[in-house]
Amino acid sequence: MTSSSRDAPVGIFDSGLGGLSVLRAVRAQLPAERVIYVADSRHAPYGERDDDFIADRTLAIGEWLVSQGAKALVVACNTATAQSIALVRERLAIPLVGVEPGVKPAALGSKSRVAGVLATQSTLRSARFQALLERHAAGCRMLCQPGLGLVQAIERGDVGSPELLALLRGYLQPMLDAGADTLVLGCTHYPFLDAAIRSIVGDRMTLIDTGVAVARQLQRVLDDHGVRADATADRATPDAVRLCSTGDGAQLRALAAALLQLDAPAEQVRIPSRRTADIDADAA
Ligand code: DGL
Repeated sequence: MTSSSRDAPVGIFDSGLGGLSVLRAVRAQLPAERVIYVADSRHAPYGERDDDFIADRTLAIGEWLVSQGAKALVVACNTATAQSIALVRERLAIPLVGVEPGVKPAALGSKSRVAGVLATQSTLRSARFQALLERHAAGCRMLCQPGLGLVQAIERGDVGSPELLALLRGYLQPMLDAGADTLVLGCTHYPFLDAAIRSIVGDRMTLIDTGVAVARQLQRVLDDHGVRADATADRATPDAVRLCSTGDGAQLRALAAALLQLDAPAEQVRIPSRRTADIDADAA
């Protein structure tokens, strides 16, 4: 591989702001990497969309990131991974890393042998998630709960209103009542609810977030392909992370500043696709 491949950015994409929790882990694990982050906020949430819509957007954004020079793609969205990683892997010429709910670490760690899984409706109904349960639940009872309304709240910047806490309590109390001691955060948006969840479950549940595992997997993939950035590269530069949004970018910028101490502008980008042609034409 040439030094220019090593210097190329990693593409990270999510339906919206959730992938910032993965970007945070990637920045900590691989500080020398340049990153282009795409939030498809105009079309979030994906979790209540049909499977074809999710595959269409994932492919279009993956292709756009390749056109921007990405050397690898992190699909930092459980829903997009569950519905379309196999298709996108076939169609894109760059290495891919997906994310999936931490069923395996939950089953390994749970003492009560009851764990909750909070994820989008689309992730929970996917064949990929069902296969994950079959392979890794290992006799641990998994209480699967769709987190309806949670992604919308986070996209609005709400991570602790009384309404949000009431919604969360409705999802978590039945898990506590059933004896769950572990909670899988099966959507990359949910780590932003950490404090809200803690205020409800206290220390009765261990929270499982796979951001760090994904960053380690990305490192392995970059090494396998010989494209990991030179560790001595100076990435304290303003262009180290390029933030892009299909929405207005205001929340993306605000959350990146709060979470990653990243004072970068959020570019508005248009990424047309078959299923959004009408919506994009209306906006033009
Ligand atoms: N962050 C996405 C995930 O991990 C949220 C999906 C959505 O937009 O509903 O599943």
